Order: sequence, then C-alpha cells, then structure tokens
Amino acid sequence: MRKIKIFDTTLRDGEQAPGCTMNPREKLELARQLERLGVDVVEAGFPVSSPDDAQAVREVAQALTHTTVAALCRAVRGDVEAAAKALEPAKKPRLHIFIATSDLHLREKLNITREKALEMIAESVAYACTRCGDVEFSAEDATRSDREFLLTALNTAVDAGASTINVPDTVGYITPEEMGELIAWLRENLHRKKDGSPVTLSVHCHNDLGMAVANSLAAIRAGADQVEGTINGIGERAGNVALEEIIMALDTRGQLYQAQTGINLRQIYRTCRLVSTVIGQKIPPNKPVVGRNAFNHEAGIHQHGVLKNPLTYEIMSPETIGIYDNDLVLGKHSGKHAFIQRVEELGYTLPGELLERAFTRFLALADRKKTVTNKDIEAIVGAAGYTIPETYKLHSFVVNSGTVISATAVVKLLRDGEEMEHVARGDGPIDAAFKAIDRIVKVGFQLVNYSIHSVTEGEDAQGEVVVKLRQGNHTVTGRGLSTDIFEASLKAYLNAVNKIIAQ
Ligand code: KIV
Ligand code: ZN
Repeated sequence: MRKIKIFDTTLRDGEQAPGCTMNPREKLELARQLERLGVDVVEAGFPVSSPDDAQAVREVAQALTHTTVAALCRAVRGDVEAAAKALEPAKKPRLHIFIATSDLHLREKLNITREKALEMIAESVAYACTRCGDVEFSAEDATRSDREFLLTALNTAVDAGASTINVPDTVGYITPEEMGELIAWLRENLHRKKDGSPVTLSVHCHNDLGMAVANSLAAIRAGADQVEGTINGIGERAGNVALEEIIMALDTRGQLYQAQTGINLRQIYRTCRLVSTVIGQKIPPNKPVVGRNAFNHEAGIHQHGVLKNPLTYEIMSPETIGIYDNDLVLGKHSGKHAFIQRVEELGYTLPGELLERAFTRFLALADRKKTVTNKDIEAIVGAAGYTIPETYKLHSFVVNSGTVISATAVVKLLRDGEEMEHVARGDGPIDAAFKAIDRIVKVGFQLVNYSIHSVTEGEDAQGEVVVKLRQGNHTVTGRGLSTDIFEASLKAYLNAVNKIIAQ
C-alpha cells in the first residue's frame, strides 16, 4: 500500500479563519499534539505576515522533534528569508512558496503577466533551495488555472528544485471527477526531480461546495501522495478538508484506495477536542468521525443491532479514534496514583507542574461531584495546560437576579494578594458580573462571544464557558470550568482578561 503524507495547516490556514486565532502558547500545545498524532508536516505559520507569527513558527520549530515544520512564503525573496529565519531551529524545516496561477488572480490580485509569474517562481524556488533542503511549491487557485499554464508553472518550480508540488483548490470549486482527472494528468506530465525520482504530488482542498473530502480522496486514487488540511476542517469561509475524515476514510476503506497513513489513530479524538477547546468552537454533534452523535444510536432497531454486533451500524469503533468508555469513574478517594494512571491511559503526558495543577483541580471537582468521568478529566487536563499568568484571580462573588429586580453582582478579585471589589448592575447576572470585573481591571476590550456547554451529562455536570474578547485586532479566548455556571463564566472572563494583560 502507498503511504499518504498528512500535511496539517491548522496553525496557518486554519488559524487564518475568523474566530480561530490562537496565541503562541496555544499554537505550541497544538503543534505538540499534532506530533503525537503523527502528522508528517506541521505548517506553523506565515512568518512575514507578523512578528508574532514568525515567533510562533520559531517556537514550534524548536519544539518538534521529528515532524517536518513548514513555513509559508510568497514567491518573493523577503518572504523566503523571513520564513527561513523562523525555521532555523527546526530539525526538519520546509519552505512552502506560493503564487497564484489563474488568470483571474494574476490580473485582478497580483496585476502581473504569466511570464512574470514564471520568473518569480523560478527565482524564489531556486533561492529557497539555497536556504533549505526541502521546498514545496503551491499554485494558488490551481483548479481554476489554464491547464497548460498550470503545468508550465509547476514544472518551472520542479526544475528550480521544488520537491513537493501542491495543487490547491483554493476556492473549493472543483468536483471529484475533475480532480481525479487533473491529478492523473499532472502525475503523467510533471517533470522529475534532478535525481530522476518523482516529486511528491500534494492536494489542498477547500470545502466551499462540501466536496473537500471527496476531492482529496479522488486525488489520492489518481496518484496524489500528500493531503493538506486542518483538524476539524477549520479554515477560511467553509474551511479546509477535515484531516480526521481523510485519515479515517483511508483507514476504513484502505483496500479500495490502496493507501494508508502513518497516523496514530488513537490520538484523533483528543486532537479534535483540543482544537475545539483552543478556538472555543464546539464540534457539531453530527460532525463525521468526532461529533458527539457519531457513535450514538438512538433508534431502537439500531441499538438492538449494535448490542448484538457493533458492525451492524458502526463502520469504525470509537476506541479506534481514542474515545474511551465513559463509565470508568474516579472519586475523591481515588488518590493521586489512580488519577495519574487515568491521565496516562487517556494519552496525556503532562509535565510535573501541570500534573500537580490538574490534580488539584481534580480534587476540587471530586469534592463537588460524586463521580469524575474521563470527559471531566480531559476537560481538567485541557484547562491545566492553558493556564497563563493569573494577574487577577477570582476571590468570591454574589449575584442577585430575578424577574422583578434588575440583576446585580458583587465581585471580589485578588491582585498580588490585594482584594479588590466592585458591584455592578447588568442585563442579567452574568452581564452584571462581567461589568463588575471591567470596573476592577479597567482594561479596554469588547466581549465578542460567549458560549456554554456541559462537559458531561447529569445534574452535577461540569459546565465549560468560552468567552472571546477583542482588543484592537487581537481576539483572545478565555475558558472556565465549574459545576456552577456563574463561576465558570467569571473564570472564563478572567482567563481572557489575564491573556489580554499578558500579551
Ligand atoms: O488555499 C490556498 O490556496 C492556500 C495556499 C497558500 C496553499 O492556502
Ligand atoms: Zn488554503
């Protein structure tokens, strides 16, 4: 079977989407998880776009031990230099150069001729090869480009030294039949590398018409060696192809595709959850592979079948992707050893300080809740990883609301051991409490999103609140976890405020 390389661009194309911004710490955490998942390439950012992005690429490059780290650059020397510099600490760096090849983009966006584009490709790829042994070239809007010109552009990149050639369906326009045919034709006509071996042929599909998975799979059948996409399919507009769907399609239908990946399947669920937590966007319940309902059987006839033999209605098992039995519970008498063992069974390796923090949270939760489930533990472990310097800590609060009074909140915070208290009125108790916090911290920002969901089922379920605050062009995500939704809300708000202060 052929091995298909998985190129993850969650930190670059995914992060580019509205509401999906991540801070450098979150990017690093996610990059480490992508390495555990076993992707072949992590595209960490677009260094020339901002100093923050360059720094994030550098930190990811430093942290990953065996995964290729790619950085994006336009086909100009300055971009290549910035990307090469940010990738200096990488064990396996890759420079990823792109330029549009469709006449529409050349004319309307870049205002250059085809000849000029070819010149830029030849120059930038050749220069990149002097800075890095692994260079990928992408023809943006490839699927709407004139075919012969696309081939000329791609061959120009191969002749200049690119070893991976990527065909992006930038606007999600192509259909599976067309994609299969295009890739087969390119496979036939692309030049070979100087050593005579074929280049790695890659596809990068966006999901505007909901065909990104089908298009990527059609490309694989036609000879593509690499698929680019994001976890949970996050990305511009309708998003990129969801990598977990490609990976599980190849695992489930490997015989048909005669292809497999090197992915550690048991890390899939955890990776998808982590992305969802970091960007504060819930995974839709009917999302293929990792949605809450993906392995739930509601209809009696289905339940009956699954009890007799899961294969009746399940083409993959939840355990395969790392969803474990939720019945295995811990309680407050379980002790540290049992807690650590469970954390490890769930696939997490936490450094000492984070483990201590997670255990303290576990004890606090076990005091409030009869049983602590795996989902609770995952939420606790996730929250422990995102702790940033806590300039303000929640000391206590009182909220008062009802149908015949206006809501008020008294909030007391701690800063360097000093107690600070304020009272405020608002449209509901949460609004009042947030206003009280605003009065204490006196930092200008806007609340742009607030969401709450329960981590587990039952009356004593933990609620997770996610808030997004915007200050200028920066959006930060704050999370709070508690069995009390007011407390979870205040913690989430303070977490975001502390992130703004720490920036
Ligand atoms: O969608 C696209 O064309 C891209 C390229 C920069 C690879 O993201
Ligand atoms: Zn893209």
